[in-house]
Amino acid sequence: MTVAGKSWLSLLVILPLLSTEVMSNAFQLEPLNPTVLQGSDAHFNATVFGDWKVMTWTVQDLLVLTAQAPDTIISASDEFSARFCADIRCVEFTIKNVTRAQAGPVMCTIQGDFGQKTAHLEVQESGTVSITGGNVTVVQDQLVDLQCITTDWFPPPNVTWTQNSQPVNPSQYSTTSTPSGDSFTSTSNLTLQAVRNTTVQCLATVPTLPVPLSSSVILVVVPKPSDWTVLIAVVASFGGLALLVLLIIGIIFCCKRRKETKPNYQDEMMRTRTQSQLSGVHRPEVRKGQVNSVYEPENRTSAAPSEVTDSGFFQANTSNISEMPDVVNSNQVWNSYNNSYENVEDSGFKKHRHVTIV
Ligand SMILES: *[C@@H]1O[C@H](CO)[C@@H](O)[C@H](O)[C@H]1NC(C)=O
Ligand SMILES: *[C@@H]1O[C@H](CO)[C@@H](O)[C@H](O)[C@H]1NC(C)=O
Ligand SMILES: *[C@@H]1O[C@H](CO)[C@@H](O)[C@H](O)[C@H]1NC(C)=O
Ligand SMILES: *[C@@H]1O[C@H](CO)[C@@H](O)[C@H](O)[C@H]1NC(C)=O
Ligand SMILES: *[C@@H]1O[C@H](CO)[C@@H](O)[C@H](O)[C@H]1NC(C)=O
Ligand SMILES: *[C@@H]1O[C@H](CO)[C@@H](O)[C@H](O)[C@H]1NC(C)=O
Repeated sequence: MTVAGKSWLSLLVILPLLSTEVMSNAFQLEPLNPTVLQGSDAHFNATVFGDWKVMTWTVQDLLVLTAQAPDTIISASDEFSARFCADIRCVEFTIKNVTRAQAGPVMCTIQGDFGQKTAHLEVQESGTVSITGGNVTVVQDQLVDLQCITTDWFPPPNVTWTQNSQPVNPSQYSTTSTPSGDSFTSTSNLTLQAVRNTTVQCLATVPTLPVPLSSSVILVVVPKPSDWTVLIAVVASFGGLALLVLLIIGIIFCCKRRKETKPNYQDEMMRTRTQSQLSGVHRPEVRKGQVNSVYEPENRTSAAPSEVTDSGFFQANTSNISEMPDVVNSNQVWNSYNNSYENVEDSGFKKHRHVTIV
Protein backbone atom coordinates (compact mmCIF):
# COMPACT_ATOMS: atom_id res chain seq x y z
CA MET A 1 0.00 0.00 0.00
CA THR A 2 1.34 3.43 -0.93
CA VAL A 3 1.80 6.32 1.41
CA ALA A 4 -0.99 8.12 -0.36
CA GLY A 5 -3.22 5.09 0.16
CA LYS A 6 -2.52 5.10 3.93
CA SER A 7 -3.41 8.76 4.13
CA TRP A 8 -6.67 8.15 2.39
CA LEU A 9 -7.47 5.34 4.83
CA SER A 10 -6.77 7.63 7.79
CA LEU A 11 -8.93 10.26 6.32
CA LEU A 12 -11.77 7.79 5.94
CA VAL A 13 -11.58 6.90 9.63
CA ILE A 14 -11.29 10.49 10.88
CA LEU A 15 -13.77 12.05 8.50
CA PRO A 16 -17.00 10.89 10.19
CA LEU A 17 -15.73 12.15 13.57
CA LEU A 18 -14.61 15.46 12.20
CA SER A 19 -17.85 15.95 10.48
CA THR A 20 -19.88 15.41 13.69
CA GLU A 21 -17.53 17.62 15.70
CA VAL A 22 -17.61 20.37 13.22
CA MET A 23 -21.27 20.12 12.75
CA SER A 24 -22.34 19.97 16.45
CA ASN A 25 -19.64 22.28 17.84
CA ALA A 26 -20.55 20.84 21.16
CA PHE A 27 -18.91 19.19 24.22
CA GLN A 28 -19.74 16.67 26.91
CA LEU A 29 -19.21 17.07 30.65
CA GLU A 30 -18.88 13.93 32.74
CA PRO A 31 -19.95 13.09 35.35
CA LEU A 32 -22.86 15.43 35.83
CA ASN A 33 -23.77 14.39 39.39
CA PRO A 34 -20.63 13.19 41.09
CA THR A 35 -20.67 12.35 44.80
CA VAL A 36 -17.34 12.28 46.55
CA LEU A 37 -16.09 11.97 50.08
CA GLN A 38 -14.70 15.06 51.69
CA GLY A 39 -10.92 14.93 51.52
CA SER A 40 -10.81 12.96 48.30
CA ASP A 41 -10.47 14.30 44.74
CA ALA A 42 -13.26 15.16 42.31
CA HIS A 43 -12.64 14.60 38.60
CA PHE A 44 -14.54 15.99 35.61
CA ASN A 45 -13.97 15.30 31.91
CA ALA A 46 -14.83 17.73 29.18
CA THR A 47 -14.80 16.10 25.76
CA VAL A 48 -14.96 18.65 22.99
CA PHE A 49 -16.25 18.09 19.50
CA GLY A 50 -14.76 20.83 17.39
CA ASP A 51 -11.96 23.36 17.47
CA TRP A 52 -11.76 25.29 20.69
CA LYS A 53 -9.36 27.89 22.05
CA VAL A 54 -10.30 28.75 25.63
CA MET A 55 -11.99 26.62 28.29
CA THR A 56 -12.85 27.87 31.80
CA TRP A 57 -13.93 26.05 34.96
CA THR A 58 -15.86 27.65 37.78
CA VAL A 59 -16.63 26.13 41.16
CA GLN A 60 -19.53 27.76 42.95
CA ASP A 61 -19.38 30.63 40.47
CA LEU A 62 -15.70 31.25 41.13
CA LEU A 63 -13.40 31.00 38.17
CA VAL A 64 -10.70 28.60 39.28
CA LEU A 65 -9.03 27.34 36.09
CA THR A 66 -8.48 28.24 32.50
CA ALA A 67 -7.24 25.89 29.76
CA GLN A 68 -5.96 27.16 26.43
CA ALA A 69 -5.58 24.92 23.44
CA PRO A 70 -3.32 23.30 22.68
CA ASP A 71 -1.33 22.97 25.93
CA THR A 72 -1.77 25.74 28.48
CA ILE A 73 -3.39 25.32 31.91
CA ILE A 74 -3.74 28.29 34.24
CA SER A 75 -4.92 27.45 37.75
CA ALA A 76 -6.01 29.75 40.53
CA SER A 77 -4.52 27.48 43.17
CA ASP A 78 -3.01 24.05 43.80
CA GLU A 79 -6.45 22.77 44.71
CA PHE A 80 -7.52 22.90 41.09
CA SER A 81 -5.71 21.24 38.27
CA ALA A 82 -6.33 20.01 34.74
CA ARG A 83 -4.61 17.94 32.09
CA PHE A 84 -5.21 16.99 28.50
CA CYS A 85 -6.41 13.42 28.64
CA ALA A 86 -5.20 11.96 25.38
CA ASP A 87 -5.32 14.82 22.99
CA ILE A 88 -6.62 18.31 22.78
CA ARG A 89 -10.23 17.15 22.58
CA CYS A 90 -10.40 16.02 26.21
CA VAL A 91 -9.61 17.94 29.37
CA GLU A 92 -9.73 16.37 32.82
CA PHE A 93 -10.39 18.87 35.59
CA THR A 94 -9.59 17.87 39.20
CA ILE A 95 -10.49 19.38 42.53
CA LYS A 96 -8.05 18.05 45.13
CA ASN A 97 -9.01 17.42 48.73
CA VAL A 98 -12.64 18.37 48.26
CA THR A 99 -14.43 20.12 51.11
CA ARG A 100 -18.11 20.28 51.93
CA ALA A 101 -17.96 24.01 51.10
CA GLN A 102 -17.13 23.16 47.48
CA ALA A 103 -20.28 21.14 47.03
CA GLY A 104 -22.57 22.62 44.38
CA PRO A 105 -22.32 23.63 40.76
CA VAL A 106 -19.14 22.98 38.79
CA MET A 107 -19.36 24.70 35.43
CA CYS A 108 -17.31 24.27 32.28
CA THR A 109 -17.46 26.98 29.64
CA ILE A 110 -15.85 26.83 26.20
CA GLN A 111 -15.59 30.07 24.32
CA GLY A 112 -17.15 30.12 20.89
CA ASP A 113 -20.33 28.31 19.97
CA PHE A 114 -19.87 25.59 22.60
CA GLY A 115 -21.74 27.20 25.42
CA GLN A 116 -21.48 25.85 28.96
CA LYS A 117 -22.34 22.75 30.93
CA THR A 118 -22.86 22.42 34.67
CA ALA A 119 -22.33 19.44 36.92
CA HIS A 120 -23.54 19.21 40.47
CA LEU A 121 -20.93 18.12 42.98
CA GLU A 122 -22.06 16.43 46.15
CA VAL A 123 -19.63 15.98 49.03
CA GLN A 124 -20.18 13.46 51.80
CA GLU A 125 -18.53 13.64 55.15
CA SER A 126 -17.44 10.95 57.56
CA GLY A 127 -17.13 11.93 61.19
CA THR A 128 -16.60 10.04 64.40
CA VAL A 129 -18.01 6.80 65.78
CA SER A 130 -17.94 5.97 69.44
CA ILE A 131 -19.60 3.44 71.68
CA THR A 132 -20.21 5.32 74.89
CA GLY A 133 -19.04 3.93 78.19
CA GLY A 134 -16.22 1.80 76.85
CA ASN A 135 -15.75 -1.84 77.83
CA VAL A 136 -18.54 -3.32 79.88
CA THR A 137 -18.74 -6.15 82.37
CA VAL A 138 -22.08 -7.86 82.80
CA VAL A 139 -23.47 -10.92 84.50
CA GLN A 140 -24.33 -13.75 82.14
CA ASP A 141 -27.82 -13.74 80.59
CA GLN A 142 -28.37 -10.12 81.56
CA LEU A 143 -29.59 -7.69 78.95
CA VAL A 144 -27.03 -5.05 78.17
CA ASP A 145 -27.71 -1.72 76.49
CA LEU A 146 -25.01 -0.19 74.35
CA GLN A 147 -25.12 3.20 72.76
CA CYS A 148 -23.19 4.31 69.72
CA ILE A 149 -22.85 7.99 68.90
CA THR A 150 -21.78 9.24 65.50
CA THR A 151 -21.04 12.90 64.98
CA ASP A 152 -20.26 15.10 61.96
CA TRP A 153 -21.58 12.85 59.24
CA PHE A 154 -23.19 13.91 56.02
CA PRO A 155 -25.57 12.54 55.00
CA PRO A 156 -26.84 10.59 58.07
CA PRO A 157 -24.69 7.46 58.21
CA ASN A 158 -25.87 3.90 57.95
CA VAL A 159 -25.15 2.55 61.42
CA THR A 160 -24.81 -1.20 61.91
CA TRP A 161 -23.52 -3.41 64.71
CA THR A 162 -21.51 -6.58 64.74
CA GLN A 163 -20.81 -9.05 67.49
CA ASN A 164 -17.58 -11.02 67.02
CA SER A 165 -17.63 -9.72 63.42
CA GLN A 166 -21.09 -11.22 62.81
CA PRO A 167 -23.82 -8.75 61.87
CA VAL A 168 -26.33 -8.14 64.63
CA ASN A 169 -29.98 -8.45 63.66
CA PRO A 170 -31.27 -4.93 62.91
CA SER A 171 -34.29 -5.62 65.13
CA GLN A 172 -31.94 -5.46 68.12
CA TYR A 173 -31.05 -1.83 67.57
CA SER A 174 -32.59 1.45 66.57
CA THR A 175 -30.90 4.51 65.24
CA THR A 176 -32.00 8.11 65.06
CA SER A 177 -30.19 10.91 63.30
CA THR A 178 -30.59 14.59 64.00
CA PRO A 179 -29.16 17.51 62.04
CA SER A 180 -26.39 19.30 63.85
CA GLY A 181 -25.10 22.31 62.01
CA ASP A 182 -24.53 21.27 58.40
CA SER A 183 -24.04 17.60 59.35
CA PHE A 184 -25.77 14.87 61.31
CA THR A 185 -25.42 13.28 64.70
CA SER A 186 -26.79 9.78 65.19
CA THR A 187 -27.59 7.72 68.22
CA SER A 188 -27.92 3.97 67.92
CA ASN A 189 -29.16 1.91 70.86
CA LEU A 190 -28.39 -1.78 70.91
CA THR A 191 -29.81 -4.31 73.35
CA LEU A 192 -27.91 -7.56 73.65
CA GLN A 193 -28.17 -10.59 75.83
CA ALA A 194 -24.84 -11.27 77.48
CA VAL A 195 -24.04 -14.85 76.55
CA ARG A 196 -20.28 -14.96 76.28
CA ASN A 197 -17.31 -12.64 76.01
CA THR A 198 -17.59 -10.81 72.73
CA THR A 199 -16.26 -7.87 70.83
CA VAL A 200 -19.11 -5.55 69.97
CA GLN A 201 -18.53 -3.17 67.10
CA CYS A 202 -20.52 -0.20 65.92
CA LEU A 203 -19.98 0.67 62.24
CA ALA A 204 -20.97 3.82 60.48
CA THR A 205 -20.72 4.47 56.80
CA VAL A 206 -21.83 6.66 53.95
CA PRO A 207 -21.88 5.41 50.34
CA THR A 208 -18.61 7.05 49.35
CA LEU A 209 -16.66 5.71 52.32
CA PRO A 210 -14.61 2.72 51.11
CA VAL A 211 -14.48 1.07 54.55
CA PRO A 212 -16.92 1.84 57.38
CA LEU A 213 -15.58 3.64 60.42
CA SER A 214 -16.02 1.69 63.61
CA SER A 215 -15.75 1.69 67.35
CA SER A 216 -15.55 -1.47 69.39
CA VAL A 217 -15.82 -2.48 73.00
CA ILE A 218 -15.26 -5.71 74.81
CA LEU A 219 -18.25 -7.24 76.52
CA VAL A 220 -16.92 -9.18 79.47
CA VAL A 221 -19.48 -11.70 80.64
CA VAL A 222 -19.02 -12.95 84.17
CA PRO A 223 -20.69 -16.27 84.95
CA LYS A 224 -23.98 -16.10 86.79
CA PRO A 225 -23.84 -17.85 90.14
CA SER A 226 -25.44 -21.21 89.36
CA ASP A 227 -28.38 -22.66 91.33
CA TRP A 228 -26.03 -25.18 92.91
CA THR A 229 -23.68 -22.50 94.10
CA VAL A 230 -26.59 -20.62 95.60
CA LEU A 231 -27.88 -23.79 97.24
CA ILE A 232 -24.48 -24.65 98.67
CA ALA A 233 -24.09 -21.10 99.92
CA VAL A 234 -27.52 -21.21 101.58
CA VAL A 235 -26.91 -24.61 103.12
CA ALA A 236 -23.48 -23.57 104.32
CA SER A 237 -24.76 -20.39 105.92
CA PHE A 238 -27.71 -22.15 107.53
CA GLY A 239 -25.42 -24.93 108.74
CA GLY A 240 -23.07 -22.38 110.22
CA LEU A 241 -25.95 -20.61 111.91
CA ALA A 242 -27.30 -23.86 113.32
CA LEU A 243 -23.85 -24.77 114.57
CA LEU A 244 -23.54 -21.39 116.24
CA VAL A 245 -26.93 -21.75 117.89
CA LEU A 246 -26.01 -25.25 119.09
CA LEU A 247 -22.76 -23.92 120.45
CA ILE A 248 -24.53 -21.12 122.32
CA ILE A 249 -27.12 -23.55 123.69
CA GLY A 250 -24.32 -25.86 124.75
CA ILE A 251 -22.46 -23.09 126.54
CA ILE A 252 -25.64 -21.92 128.28
CA PHE A 253 -26.45 -25.50 129.31
CA CYS A 254 -22.98 -26.06 130.67
CA CYS A 255 -23.06 -22.82 132.67
CA LYS A 256 -26.48 -23.67 134.02
CA ARG A 257 -25.30 -27.09 135.08
CA ARG A 258 -22.28 -25.67 136.82
CA LYS A 259 -24.41 -23.05 138.54
CA GLU A 260 -27.00 -25.64 139.47
CA THR A 261 -24.37 -27.92 140.98
CA LYS A 262 -23.23 -25.20 143.35
CA PRO A 263 -26.63 -23.87 144.38
CA ASN A 264 -27.92 -27.40 144.88
CA TYR A 265 -25.20 -28.03 147.32
CA GLN A 266 -25.62 -24.60 148.86
CA ASP A 267 -29.37 -25.10 148.91
CA GLU A 268 -28.79 -28.13 150.97
CA MET A 269 -26.54 -26.16 153.26
CA MET A 270 -29.12 -23.43 153.45
CA ARG A 271 -31.79 -25.90 154.37
CA THR A 272 -29.49 -27.37 156.90
CA ARG A 273 -28.71 -23.97 158.31
CA THR A 274 -32.35 -23.10 158.47
CA GLN A 275 -33.05 -26.35 160.20
CA SER A 276 -30.18 -25.88 162.60
CA GLN A 277 -31.19 -22.29 163.23
CA LEU A 278 -34.62 -23.53 164.01
CA SER A 279 -33.58 -26.52 166.07
CA GLY A 280 -29.79 -26.30 166.46
CA VAL A 281 -29.76 -25.24 170.07
CA HIS A 282 -32.29 -27.75 171.19
CA ARG A 283 -31.12 -30.72 169.13
CA PRO A 284 -27.39 -30.40 168.53
CA GLU A 285 -27.10 -34.12 167.83
CA VAL A 286 -29.25 -33.71 164.72
CA ARG A 287 -26.68 -31.38 163.31
CA LYS A 288 -23.99 -33.94 163.59
CA GLY A 289 -22.89 -35.06 160.21
CA GLN A 290 -24.56 -32.07 158.61
CA VAL A 291 -22.67 -29.48 156.62
CA ASN A 292 -21.33 -26.47 158.33
CA SER A 293 -21.38 -23.78 155.77
CA VAL A 294 -19.02 -21.56 157.62
CA TYR A 295 -16.30 -24.12 157.93
CA GLU A 296 -12.98 -22.30 158.06
CA PRO A 297 -9.70 -24.15 158.09
CA GLU A 298 -7.96 -21.49 160.21
CA ASN A 299 -10.53 -22.12 162.87
CA ARG A 300 -9.74 -25.80 162.89
CA THR A 301 -7.74 -25.68 166.15
CA SER A 302 -10.59 -24.18 168.05
CA ALA A 303 -13.17 -26.05 166.16
CA ALA A 304 -15.68 -28.05 167.99
CA PRO A 305 -15.91 -31.82 167.46
CA SER A 306 -19.01 -31.32 165.48
CA GLU A 307 -17.04 -29.23 162.99
CA VAL A 308 -14.44 -31.91 162.57
CA THR A 309 -17.27 -34.18 161.80
CA ASP A 310 -18.46 -31.58 159.34
CA SER A 311 -15.09 -31.64 157.68
CA GLY A 312 -15.33 -35.36 157.45
CA PHE A 313 -18.69 -35.03 155.88
CA PHE A 314 -17.16 -32.73 153.31
CA GLN A 315 -14.58 -35.20 152.30
CA ALA A 316 -16.91 -38.09 152.33
CA ASN A 317 -19.87 -36.69 150.49
CA THR A 318 -18.57 -33.95 148.25
CA SER A 319 -17.06 -35.03 145.03
CA ASN A 320 -16.10 -31.49 144.11
CA ILE A 321 -13.80 -30.94 147.01
CA SER A 322 -11.58 -28.45 145.27
CA GLU A 323 -14.42 -26.05 144.97
CA MET A 324 -15.36 -26.03 148.52
CA PRO A 325 -12.45 -24.13 150.06
CA ASP A 326 -13.23 -21.27 147.69
CA VAL A 327 -16.65 -20.96 149.10
CA VAL A 328 -15.61 -21.52 152.61
CA ASN A 329 -12.33 -19.58 152.66
CA SER A 330 -13.83 -16.49 151.15
CA ASN A 331 -16.30 -16.32 153.91
CA GLN A 332 -18.98 -16.22 151.31
CA VAL A 333 -21.92 -18.43 150.76
CA TRP A 334 -24.18 -18.87 147.85
CA ASN A 335 -27.58 -17.49 148.39
CA SER A 336 -29.79 -19.21 145.90
CA TYR A 337 -32.69 -16.93 146.73
CA ASN A 338 -31.09 -13.82 145.30
CA ASN A 339 -28.50 -15.69 143.22
CA SER A 340 -25.50 -14.09 144.81
CA TYR A 341 -22.74 -14.78 147.14
CA GLU A 342 -23.25 -13.37 150.57
CA ASN A 343 -20.59 -12.43 152.96
CA VAL A 344 -20.73 -14.71 155.87
CA GLU A 345 -20.03 -11.87 158.30
CA ASP A 346 -23.03 -9.96 157.06
CA SER A 347 -25.38 -12.83 156.60
CA GLY A 348 -25.46 -13.74 160.23
CA PHE A 349 -24.14 -17.20 159.63
CA LYS A 350 -21.17 -16.43 161.85
CA LYS A 351 -23.68 -15.94 164.55
CA HIS A 352 -25.05 -19.30 163.61
CA ARG A 353 -21.59 -20.79 163.97
CA HIS A 354 -21.24 -19.34 167.39
CA VAL A 355 -24.57 -20.81 168.14
CA THR A 356 -23.44 -24.24 167.08
CA ILE A 357 -20.13 -23.98 168.89
CA VAL A 358 -21.93 -23.04 172.01
C1 LIG B 1 -11.71 11.15 31.92
O1 LIG B 1 -11.11 10.59 30.72
C2 LIG B 1 -9.90 9.89 30.98
C3 LIG B 1 -9.36 9.45 29.64
O2 LIG B 1 -10.34 8.94 28.81
C4 LIG B 1 -10.23 8.67 31.86
O3 LIG B 1 -9.07 7.98 32.15
C5 LIG B 1 -10.88 9.19 33.16
O4 LIG B 1 -11.27 8.09 33.95
C6 LIG B 1 -12.08 10.05 32.86
N1 LIG B 1 -12.56 10.61 34.11
C7 LIG B 1 -13.84 10.67 34.40
C8 LIG B 1 -14.17 11.32 35.71
O5 LIG B 1 -14.71 10.24 33.68
C1 LIG C 1 -7.43 18.72 53.02
O1 LIG C 1 -8.07 19.91 53.45
C2 LIG C 1 -8.17 20.01 54.86
C3 LIG C 1 -8.96 21.29 55.16
O2 LIG C 1 -9.26 22.00 54.04
C4 LIG C 1 -6.77 20.06 55.44
O3 LIG C 1 -6.86 20.12 56.84
C5 LIG C 1 -6.02 18.79 55.06
O4 LIG C 1 -4.70 18.86 55.51
C6 LIG C 1 -6.02 18.65 53.55
N1 LIG C 1 -5.43 17.36 53.19
C7 LIG C 1 -4.52 17.25 52.24
C8 LIG C 1 -4.04 15.86 51.97
O5 LIG C 1 -4.09 18.19 51.61
C1 LIG D 1 -11.22 -2.46 76.32
O1 LIG D 1 -10.46 -3.63 76.51
C2 LIG D 1 -9.40 -3.78 75.57
C3 LIG D 1 -8.75 -5.12 75.80
O2 LIG D 1 -8.72 -5.43 77.14
C4 LIG D 1 -8.42 -2.63 75.74
O3 LIG D 1 -7.40 -2.76 74.79
C5 LIG D 1 -9.17 -1.34 75.53
O4 LIG D 1 -8.30 -0.25 75.76
C6 LIG D 1 -10.35 -1.23 76.45
N1 LIG D 1 -11.11 -0.05 76.10
C7 LIG D 1 -11.53 0.83 77.00
C8 LIG D 1 -12.32 1.99 76.51
O5 LIG D 1 -11.29 0.67 78.19
C1 LIG E 1 -26.97 -0.13 55.67
O1 LIG E 1 -25.98 -1.13 55.55
C2 LIG E 1 -26.48 -2.43 55.51
C3 LIG E 1 -25.32 -3.37 55.50
O2 LIG E 1 -24.29 -2.94 54.67
C4 LIG E 1 -27.37 -2.59 54.29
O3 LIG E 1 -27.92 -3.87 54.27
C5 LIG E 1 -28.48 -1.57 54.35
O4 LIG E 1 -29.25 -1.62 53.19
C6 LIG E 1 -27.91 -0.19 54.49
N1 LIG E 1 -29.00 0.74 54.71
C7 LIG E 1 -29.02 1.92 54.14
C8 LIG E 1 -30.19 2.77 54.48
O5 LIG E 1 -28.15 2.29 53.39
C1 LIG F 1 -31.33 5.65 73.10
O1 LIG F 1 -31.36 5.71 74.49
C2 LIG F 1 -31.32 7.02 75.00
C3 LIG F 1 -31.30 6.94 76.49
O2 LIG F 1 -30.71 5.78 76.92
C4 LIG F 1 -32.54 7.78 74.53
O3 LIG F 1 -32.45 9.10 74.98
C5 LIG F 1 -32.57 7.76 73.01
O4 LIG F 1 -33.76 8.35 72.57
C6 LIG F 1 -32.53 6.35 72.52
N1 LIG F 1 -32.45 6.37 71.08
C7 LIG F 1 -33.04 5.46 70.30
C8 LIG F 1 -32.81 5.58 68.86
O5 LIG F 1 -33.71 4.55 70.78
C1 LIG G 1 -14.79 -13.55 80.06
O1 LIG G 1 -13.46 -13.16 80.23
C2 LIG G 1 -13.07 -13.00 81.59
C3 LIG G 1 -11.64 -12.54 81.61
O2 LIG G 1 -11.40 -11.63 80.58
C4 LIG G 1 -13.25 -14.30 82.34
O3 LIG G 1 -12.95 -14.10 83.69
C5 LIG G 1 -14.68 -14.76 82.21
O4 LIG G 1 -14.82 -16.02 82.81
C6 LIG G 1 -15.06 -14.86 80.75
N1 LIG G 1 -16.46 -15.18 80.67
C7 LIG G 1 -16.93 -16.16 79.90
C8 LIG G 1 -18.40 -16.39 79.94
O5 LIG G 1 -16.18 -16.84 79.21
